[in-house]
Amino acid sequence: MAKVTGLEGIIAAETEISLVDGDNGLLVYRGYWAKDLAIDHSFEECAYLLLYGNLPNETELLQFTNRLIDNRKLPQAIEEIIDRLPNDMDMMSVLRTAVSALGDSTFSWKPTIEQAVRIISVVPTIIAYRYHQVRGSEVFLSKRGLSHIANYLYMLQGKVPTHAQERALTAYFVLTLEHGMNASTFSARSVLSTESDIISAITGAIGAMKGPLHGGAPTEVIHMLDDIHSIENAEQWLRERLEKGERIMGFGHRVYKTHDPRVVALKKISQILAGKDPWLDLALHVEKTAIRLLEEYKPGRKLYTNVEFYAAAVLRAVQMPAELFTPTFTASRVVGWSAHLLEQAENNRIFRPQSTYVGEMPGNSIGRGF
Ligand SMILES: CC(C)(COP(=O)(O)OP(=O)(O)OC[C@H]1O[C@@H](n2cnc3c(N)ncnc32)[C@H](O)[C@@H]1OP(=O)(O)O)[C@@H](O)C(=O)NCCC(=O)NCCS
Repeated sequence: MAKVTGLEGIIAAETEISLVDGDNGLLVYRGYWAKDLAIDHSFEECAYLLLYGNLPNETELLQFTNRLIDNRKLPQAIEEIIDRLPNDMDMMSVLRTAVSALGDSTFSWKPTIEQAVRIISVVPTIIAYRYHQVRGSEVFLSKRGLSHIANYLYMLQGKVPTHAQERALTAYFVLTLEHGMNASTFSARSVLSTESDIISAITGAIGAMKGPLHGGAPTEVIHMLDDIHSIENAEQWLRERLEKGERIMGFGHRVYKTHDPRVVALKKISQILAGKDPWLDLALHVEKTAIRLLEEYKPGRKLYTNVEFYAAAVLRAVQMPAELFTPTFTASRVVGWSAHLLEQAENNRIFRPQSTYVGEMPGNSIGRGF
């Protein structure tokens, strides 16, 4: 069978956006520790930082916030497209279709911050609109006075979130906004590198994000914990999976070979938010047991908890339905994708790696063609 390298260790581009140091467990956004930004900065400030390269002053922040608010509304044509999609279409496919449909001629090459803001603003609205449309429940329109994060929860739940919920979800967003040359970011940059438009690039990235090896893991984490059900079952359940050669969702990472700094932060937040919660006790126990068993079954592979494991805990604690975990991750990562696309366009070169041919040759002749 022909092997696939997964481009491991290949440098596809230089970037000034983020540093992901997997050996030392460090994550830096444009010169700031992501874990520090997550404690006391807003989504708007951090999105600005990633897109523009510096934190905004007061006036810049106000203008940027207003631009995000002004672009929240879903165009009617997109609502109509969503209304016609089959009811059993999963939310990531809906998002991929709706974002793709936004792509009129105003989104042509070269990508701009304006274009990025339009997409970043509207992704939560698409998710919330579809969430209610498919259930036939009331659609809650955006509330101007609310932050991007509070408004997302408001549009989904129909009530203004508590300060603790807003802070927890903000921290989740900040910690997942950006993460170097991961599969979806690479997909986005690869599409844009042909001088295609930002909508096509982000549509491709959503497709990459959907897969369970990338953004689809947190929902699987919830299913796994539901299935394990009790602390007593954990070891046997995990052993059975590993004996069958299956993967444990929420563990392992291509880059992090030590503790992922985002995990440490999200774990703390979920513990604060959930307080004494049997579900969280189960998660903590499964984490400990899985790390021990992964070392037993896969010695030396350095498999630790990844961001998806405690993302699931935080999202659950803010009452996010499990089916919206990956779409919510997308609502956050669309900022990182946009920053990368702007950077790619500044000094573009088409992505064109090579493959090694390991197939048959047609014999000794050199062919008779042109
Ligand atoms: C994230 C992930 C895709 C990285 O993959 P990768 O860098 O290509 O790592 P590999 O698939 O080469 O794995 C290396 C070894 O560890 C094992 N491994 C990796 N993650 C594992 C997991 N979660 N459970 C069990 N074994 C795992 C692999 O089976 C492989 O074993 P081998 O050397 O015996 O073949 C992978 O760890 C994974 O599938 N994790 C589960 C899905 C998940 O949580 N995704 C969210 C990522 S943020």
